[in-house]
Amino acid sequence: MLLLQTLRGAPNQSVLESSGPLADRVESLWWFAFATASIVYLATMGGLWWAAARARRRERQGEELPPDGERRMTRGVTIAVSATVVILLVFLITDLTVGRTLDPVPRKHPITVELTGKQWWWDVQYADTSAQGRVQTANEIHIPVGQPVLFLLNASDVIHSMWVPNLAGKKDLIPGYTQSMWFQADTAGDYRAQCAEFCGLQHAKMALHVIAEPQAKYEKWIDEQRKPAHTPTDSVADRGREVFLTGQCAMCHSITGTSAASHNGPDLTHLASRRTIAAGTLPNTRGALAGWIVDPQQVKPGTHMPPNQLAPQDLDALLTYLQSLK
Ligand code: CUA
Repeated sequence: MLLLQTLRGAPNQSVLESSGPLADRVESLWWFAFATASIVYLATMGGLWWAAARARRRERQGEELPPDGERRMTRGVTIAVSATVVILLVFLITDLTVGRTLDPVPRKHPITVELTGKQWWWDVQYADTSAQGRVQTANEIHIPVGQPVLFLLNASDVIHSMWVPNLAGKKDLIPGYTQSMWFQADTAGDYRAQCAEFCGLQHAKMALHVIAEPQAKYEKWIDEQRKPAHTPTDSVADRGREVFLTGQCAMCHSITGTSAASHNGPDLTHLASRRTIAAGTLPNTRGALAGWIVDPQQVKPGTHMPPNQLAPQDLDALLTYLQSLK
């Protein structure tokens, strides 16, 4: 039981807690490999123990190797090698078969998400036939339960890899080459995805949250995301907006409905609606946000976000503004 618990790891980032049709197949493959490997391990250890015990007994009793000993040993090795080849072949065939069932994208996939890997965060864009319908966000994807979602994967610097173990297998994001993958969540939940290809200093802190929710809740979310940023009504938030637009922030970030339109860093139009900041590194709280803005290199050394030495009132106003971006 303890072994199983250890193997499972965190329930929202685990191959053994599959929550969709693709992940189910991957999990079955995992169990098949685990069971076979366990049997092979036990058989090998048992055989080794038996051979050692027999050799010791012979030595104690001063017995010689029987005349057909050499022949029997050759037969044993031949059987073991043949069994190994057969097991590896079965693995190969099962692996390829499962792989083939994962690839075909279902014809019906109303939602298409363009996912771009960057050092070290995820740019998320929901495709739409109209420009107003498109949504740009970062490090958090919402999907409706029970519906296949198509992902178009790309990268803008180095190779990254999308891996949300509860929902699907891995797929690389390669600069200049669009790949696709799809998955479907059958149970609502907040699933953690992790970049699975070493991509530099902060590879480990490149997480993505996939939030699967009922259709109505998803639609409400996407409608909110389509709106331009909330315009501040109180003077502190308004001052914060000024700090944002006239300082360093606007040089890298975009907020729809304002003059900030740079896409070097994550889009912040609805920053306050997200659960985490810095690609899953910190919870989206006022304190964490303050620490991240003032000294991001302390949180995530090597990040492209520069430090911001703001006057206390300016920082306070900026935080109030950012937290109003629901
Ligand atoms: Cu991106 Cu590892």
